[in-house]
Amino acid sequence: MAQPLTDVEEYDQFGTPPTTQQDCDFLVDLMRRQNAGSPRLLDLACGTGRHAVEMAKRGYDVTGVDISEERLQDAQSQATKLGFTNCRFLKADLRDLRLEPSFGYAYSFFNTFSLFVDNDDLLTILGKCRSCLTEGGRIVIEVGSLWCPIADGKFHNDSYEQKHDRGTLIRTVKGTLRLARANNVYRHDRVIQYRRDGVDYPPEDAPATQRIYSINEWDLLGRLTGMRIEHVFGAMDITHEITDPNSCDGKPGDHELVLVLARQGE
Ligand SMILES: C[S@@+](CC[C@H](N)C(=O)[O-])C[C@H]1O[C@@H](n2cnc3c(N)ncnc32)[C@H](O)[C@@H]1O
Repeated sequence: MAQPLTDVEEYDQFGTPPTTQQDCDFLVDLMRRQNAGSPRLLDLACGTGRHAVEMAKRGYDVTGVDISEERLQDAQSQATKLGFTNCRFLKADLRDLRLEPSFGYAYSFFNTFSLFVDNDDLLTILGKCRSCLTEGGRIVIEVGSLWCPIADGKFHNDSYEQKHDRGTLIRTVKGTLRLARANNVYRHDRVIQYRRDGVDYPPEDAPATQRIYSINEWDLLGRLTGMRIEHVFGAMDITHEITDPNSCDGKPGDHELVLVLARQGE
């Protein structure tokens, strides 16, 4: 029996948090603080284009790239429906990204870099992204923090069950989260089941291994790919800058890492 939702429907209905406005506010605040003017923007792994379309609405020129044709088509049809000509979408694997060095800011929101568990992939991707930047350009990356939940004593192997009720469409997720004992990844095993119009669909496994990061790791990643950390934030909020990464104190609400990497050299 086929699944009741396409990838795009699943993604739009259940896959993204309602943070698009806040994320875009953060990016605009950051660019204002850096007197960046109105740089060309590159949305790395843009999905169905929620940030790209919003930034285009705010007047920026945006290019979104993603590996998923289906998601890009959805992004493009939204932009077209809204009549935005300052926004375009290109299919690309970030590992093979080749664009002119014409972007003042590139960004990757919603923890996409958790997917790049392999160091060769990660270094290749960062190198490719860097080469799309103008001199002095920046990459802004939102990722999960390894240390924040551990410092708060909150990261423990866990099982959960969630029910998302959308009337005639119900999604049930049963999952377990297990932190790797020797590396900064966790294993997320999920079984997802839909009920649509009273019909139960067979449960599907949706496992993932995801990477969580520390600031020290990003410092090294930046140095290896011709970039340096310029700022780190603990949330998508310009008032949440982490000015001392080695401090044992945190600000309430800091729960992730948002890194601003500046391109070095030519
Ligand atoms: C967690 S989603 C985030 C999407 C978007 N940034 C957002 O906030 O809605 C991750 C996205 O990364 C894309 N992706 C995964 N691996 C990729 C790769 N190697 N190159 C380009 N896109 C990739 C997926 O297709 C997916 O749309």
